[in-house]
Amino acid sequence: MSQPTVTATRRASPERDLLEPATVEVVDRTGADQPPPRSGGPTAISTRGLTKRFPGGQVAVDSLDLDVPTGSVFGFLGPNGSGKTTSIRMLLGLVSATDGRVELLGSPMPDGAAHVLPRVGALVEGPGFHPYLSGRDNLLRLDAADRTVTSAGARRRVAEALDRVGLAAAGGKRYRAYSLGMRQRLGLAAALLKPRDLLVLDEPTNGLDPQGTREVRTIIRDVGAGGTTVFLSSHLLPEVEQVCSHVGVMSRGRLVFSGSLRELRQASAVRVRVDTERPAAAGAVLHQLGTGEPDIRANGVVAELRDVPSERLIEALVRAEIPVRQLVLEQPDLEEMFVELTGEGFDVDE
Ligand SMILES: Nc1ncnc2c1ncn2[C@@H]1O[C@H](COP(=O)(O)OP(=O)(O)OP(=O)(O)O)[C@@H](O)[C@H]1O
Ligand SMILES: [Mg+2]
Repeated sequence: MSQPTVTATRRASPERDLLEPATVEVVDRTGADQPPPRSGGPTAISTRGLTKRFPGGQVAVDSLDLDVPTGSVFGFLGPNGSGKTTSIRMLLGLVSATDGRVELLGSPMPDGAAHVLPRVGALVEGPGFHPYLSGRDNLLRLDAADRTVTSAGARRRVAEALDRVGLAAAGGKRYRAYSLGMRQRLGLAAALLKPRDLLVLDEPTNGLDPQGTREVRTIIRDVGAGGTTVFLSSHLLPEVEQVCSHVGVMSRGRLVFSGSLRELRQASAVRVRVDTERPAAAGAVLHQLGTGEPDIRANGVVAELRDVPSERLIEALVRAEIPVRQLVLEQPDLEEMFVELTGEGFDVDE
């Protein structure tokens, strides 16, 4: 998943370079080729100062101000223990907030739960399925409990939902005999039993095999394309990158970034890399022009570009007669950004 952003390359041909203006091939991979994020209008989820302090004093979610645009596919990204599930539970009124406000589809939660939850499909850790009933019968029970649909279409709705998540053949098996991935699929089927205005999915691909992961991604894209707002949590960056238009990044209970995927990419500093056999001299030229502190390496130099136009860089390098094999403008890929935002280290936070 390498994401060089703007690539400007030129061949080492010093004599020609001195005579001719630099020809630069610019490949923009900042995401400009992606469709614009579907935002605007009211927010499907909005929180202000949302906080959860568990008995014992731990603050799992700390003053969360979240705005999820209607029609977006919003990735709620963060490492283990960063507060994603706790936030989602508060959004849905499954756990009370210590402080703050939540609005779901324009209604305050949890007061508006009865009115708003039928429009929301949710998949949250540990869904309450009956272990001795089959997947199909579990869905029929859930369907029957929904007062907003008529019982006439129940079998069809359940069959379609099972089919959609790849459980058509295993629908008759008891829930307790389901594998983790099958349970996850059934949870998703329950969320998809009828058209929704909002889908809230906590780690929807958890426990799924690669094939299942791809299927779920396709389902999420389809649901999003149909106009449903999708809010999904994940600790997997590629997943978010592949399906989401917007992203919120959690770290230690706090939201450290929120915006479109494109904004996330643009938030990172662009660096210039000059491959040359004279790295120190090239570094001096770069620094003089106003780049960040150059990092001199064996085969070249790297520095933060700042406001220096790449044309000026190239011109100055040529003037200084520095043979340049390649000049590349790179942007840290999302993985690097994620680590930058959430901190390194394998240990989950306390
Ligand atoms: N019922 C609880 N009582 C006490 N602490 C809790 C409880 N539930 C969660 N926590 C703590 O709150 C923090 C956030 O947990 P949460 O489950 O929201 O994280 P998460 O981002 O969903 O993590 P993961 O990616 O592992 O699912 C963790 O430190 C966790 O130990
Ligand atoms: Mg979780």
